[in-house]
Amino acid sequence: MTTLATSPRPEITPHCESIQQKVTQMIDDLIASLPDSTVLTSEERRGIIARYSSVLEGNFIYWMTATLLAVHSEEARPILLDNLFEEVRDAHPAMLRNFAIAAHAFPTDTDALAVSDELTRMRRFMGKLSPVQSLAAMAFFEGYIQKFMPYLAELAASRGSSEMEYTDVHGVCDIAHTDGLFRALSIEMENSPLEADKDPFEGVAILHHLMQRIVFYQEASPRA
Ligand SMILES: [Fe+2]
Repeated sequence: MTTLATSPRPEITPHCESIQQKVTQMIDDLIASLPDSTVLTSEERRGIIARYSSVLEGNFIYWMTATLLAVHSEEARPILLDNLFEEVRDAHPAMLRNFAIAAHAFPTDTDALAVSDELTRMRRFMGKLSPVQSLAAMAFFEGYIQKFMPYLAELAASRGSSEMEYTDVHGVCDIAHTDGLFRALSIEMENSPLEADKDPFEGVAILHHLMQRIVFYQEASPRA
């Protein structure tokens, strides 16, 4: 993997480690809560892929860029740039679009609107450009995506797709990215600590809700 990071890898501080543990637990709990894909209808499987694609295709690079704009520490920037470099060079949004189309799950207006409120909340949050909160949210995002990939691939396969480049790539590269984001978080927490009255998990909670909405949204998904 090409890397732009040149700084030595700092240790993760104990404070950051406690955030990492909580974020990891939230990810694992969310993964454990996913409905058994074999009992979902074909339309329910389509809906999850479509809402995921609707959120991720146009926003992952946006939110990673917002996080890059937010960070103050020079040492944290190469970690985010490395991530963005790979996203753009390998055209990850195109991979995701191909994945959704091959699974006959390209998002409709209904799919996009089903996650619209949560998406807007996340965009507003990122607009605050809060470095520690944004880095924690993106670490949650990367970690969740990586663990969600086998499930997403399963949904697509059950819809007759064999186009798995997106899920194959993200099941592997996001492990390193997640680790890198926690290192960036640790650096930022040392150099630009969050104000005492602010919640480091604010963005994590908004994103967690958005990820739940992707999976569990029902009202606009009539059973096939
Ligand atoms: Fe990606």
